[in-house]
This record gives sequence, C-alpha cells and structure tokens, in this order.
Amino acid sequence: MTEADDINISVIGMGYVGLASGLGYTSHGYRTTITDIISSRVENLKKGIMPFFEPHLQGLVNKEVESGMLRASTNNIETIRESNVTFICVGTPSLHDGSADLKFVREVAKDIGIAIRDKREYHVVVVKSTVLPCTTESIVLPVVEEFSGKKAGDEFGIIMNPEFLRQGQAVHDSLHPDRIIIGQMDDRAGEMVHRIYEGYTDEKGDPVPILHVEIKAAELIKYAANSLLATKISFANEFARICEKFNIDVYDVMKGVGLDSRINPLFLNAGCGFGGSCFPKDVNAIVSMAEAIEVETPIMEAVLHTNDIQPMHFVSIIEDVVGDLEGKVVAFLGLSFKPDTDDVRETRALPIIQKLYLEGARIRAYDPQASDRFRSLTDLPITYTDSIEEALDGADFAVIQSDWNDFRNIEPATFKRLLREPVVIDGRRTYDPKEMKSAGITYRAIGWKNTW
Ligand code: UDX
Repeated sequence: MTEADDINISVIGMGYVGLASGLGYTSHGYRTTITDIISSRVENLKKGIMPFFEPHLQGLVNKEVESGMLRASTNNIETIRESNVTFICVGTPSLHDGSADLKFVREVAKDIGIAIRDKREYHVVVVKSTVLPCTTESIVLPVVEEFSGKKAGDEFGIIMNPEFLRQGQAVHDSLHPDRIIIGQMDDRAGEMVHRIYEGYTDEKGDPVPILHVEIKAAELIKYAANSLLATKISFANEFARICEKFNIDVYDVMKGVGLDSRINPLFLNAGCGFGGSCFPKDVNAIVSMAEAIEVETPIMEAVLHTNDIQPMHFVSIIEDVVGDLEGKVVAFLGLSFKPDTDDVRETRALPIIQKLYLEGARIRAYDPQASDRFRSLTDLPITYTDSIEEALDGADFAVIQSDWNDFRNIEPATFKRLLREPVVIDGRRTYDPKEMKSAGITYRAIGWKNTW
C-alpha cells in the first residue's frame, strides 16, 4: 500500500481553485473526484472540455481523467461519502455591501454533514474557499455538526487551507506553491492534510514550507496577502502619476525600489489598475468587515480609491495624446483582467471602454480569449474583431489594456502599416519605448509623460 492509498479526496467546486488543486492532488498520487452543480461542466470535463481557458490545464486534466486518477461528478453527497478528505472550493462572490456571499459554502457544509452522518470512518473537512475570519468555525463547523450529528475535533476534523493561485498560472501555482497554510483545531486533522502536501516542492525541487496555524489566522492570511499585493500595485500606480509630472519613468523607479531585498521587485508594475476575482473582492471584504467591527482601515480604502482613479487617469492620458475623441475609432486590445485568461471579472477594460464611449469614441475590440465573456458584461455598441490586424486596420489609434504575448509580438511596422496614424497608448508597458520611438511611433504609456 502506498502513502496515498488510504486518502481519497473529494473537491467540491470545479472553478480555478477546485480544478487546479485537484490536479495537484492527483499528481501526488491521490485519487480525486471533483463535483460541480452545473452538470454541463461535469459532462464537458469528462469529454476533455474545460469550463474556462487556463494555460496547460486541458492537457493535464485529460491525462489524469484518462488514467482514472481524476473523476468528475454532480453528486456531492455520494462523492463526499466515498472520500475521507473533502476540500470546499466553491465561490464566495461579493454581495452589494462588499461582504462575501456564503450561500454556496453553507450548502456544501450541509451536504458534507449529510454525507458523513452514517460513516464510521474519520473525515476531514477542508475549507479552501476564501472566507473571512471566524467563518470556518462559526458557520461551516456548526452546519456540518448539525447535519452529521457528529462532533468536530473528535468524529471529524476541520481545516482551513487557503489557496494562493494566480489565474493564467493556476496549474504551476497549484503544483509548486510558495507555501502551504494549514489552519487547524486539532493535530489529527492537521497531520492528515499535512501528509497530502508534504511531497510538494518548489521549481528547484526543494520542499514547500508548510505552516500550521489556528483556523482564524489561516483565514486572515489569505486576505492579508492579497491586500498587501493590491497595496503594492496601487502604490506603484500612485508613483506613476507623480513620475508623469516630472517626466521620470516609474519603471526605473520601481526597479530601483524593488532591488531592496526587503521589498522585492514583484507586483510593482504600474498600469491601469488591478482587476480579477480576488484583489477587488478581498480588499472590499476587509474594508466592510473592518467597518462592522469598528476598525479603521485607511490604507485599504486608499488602495481601492487609487484603483478606481487609475482607469480614468489612463483615459486622460489617451485624451492628452489624441485630443477630442468624438468619432475617433480606437483599436482596443485586451479585454480580460490580465493576460492568459478569459476572465473579465473587474477588468479595467470595462470602465475604460465606458468612458471612451461616453467621450464619443468608436470601439473596435480584440482579445485572444475574452471577447465572449466581455460581451455579456456590457451592451455598448462595440465591434469585436477576430484578429489584431482587423482591430488595427484603419483605426485612428491603438490602446493596450492587457499585455498578452500576442500583443507584445506586434511589430512596430504592423502598427504603422494598419493604423491611420501610428499612435499607441499602452496601459501596461507592453513595449520597449525606445524601439517604438525609433520605428516612428507616437507611443505613450502610464508612468512617464514623455511621448516617445
Ligand atoms: C491574485 C493573487 O496573485 C493570488 O495569489 C490570489 O490567490 C488570487 O488573486 P489573480 O487575480 O489571478 O491572482 O491575478 P494577479 O496576477 O495577481 O493580478 C491581479 C491584477 O493585478 C491584474 O489585473 C493584474 O494586471 C494587476 N497587476 C498585477 C498589476 O497591475 N501590476 C502588477 O505588478 C501585478
């Protein structure tokens, strides 16, 4: 019997976290079944069709499905019953007041309770969904206890194990995480989850650090990490605006800042703001929770404020370069919230396009993956094109909102050949300004006022 033979894993929720985490478990030898309430997702997965675009996901999932290590089901209760560790990976979307909607987490907790009610075997419940401090112990635990008739810490274990994966790198981050956080009430459950992760290594093959803390600390680590990363981005964006006034390149400044080993160079790239399913939601959730418990959080409020200003600031740069937007055709490249994903949640493309449209511009948009999803966000009269060339052809100027490699690879000569005027305004510092200048392009990017 191998190490993994006595652990069978169920993962509830077939989103980024559930699928990428599931792949991590199967690749370490743990048989895993992932469930979802959307039956088409489950059927598609069995046929090798992924619910979203994520690099490297399809090939690896298909391999694990074919080998029988990874299975998919719509039946939560049966799947949970056949496993002895259940990871809750369902979404916690924002409600109107910024707080997290725990409806799905509650429903899964109920299913777990029902599933383990008549089981004699010890079961570990692991909350992976992002939840605020106290949620695991005050909401998940009592629901599982109520529906199972069992006592936590005794007849079943409860763990909080946050996920830190980035979309676009979800597979890599799940196979080689920077760290594993295990929030636990008791050692038995903590050790069982520790065993699942102890074979995980970083890219160099060294073991990944595993930190055991109390459950509430694990819950807060996720929010604190995302809030600090969002703070770094808003910080760089604020300095970008200062740099523009002095004609200093913010990328030089942040390179100099990031070389300090206490700071590090990552997440200091100025741009048109952060989007996605985590940063805006998580920082908002912290602000609204802090308000409820009467704690002042001016830093987090400022991080969100700067992030709201930045897309509008980008539009003012565009207007500064091209003047009156009335009737101008803009080739708008990049609709997803960042490259390598078709996710448009909180994408900065939306406020930028809305404002450009209000100012009279005609939008011609292209994204390698996200056009369909973006279409469902807005009914503005946008022309969606099937290629970069089609977007650029005859447009008055080009705007870059996310730095997909496809956009990086556009030759300056292509802009010159297809645009009416060779004007490129870059929200992500996609190009080398010197190259653009020597090619005769009017190029302007966030964080340096100079028109190269
Ligand atoms: C993030 C966290 O990185 C991850 O650990 C967490 O679990 C979920 O949230 P993700 O939302 O996938 O991951 O994207 P990330 O790569 O972190 O980028 C978030 C946003 O910040 C994007 O809109 C990106 O364009 C922006 N960003 C990122 C910047 O503007 N500048 C940077 O330097 C880095």
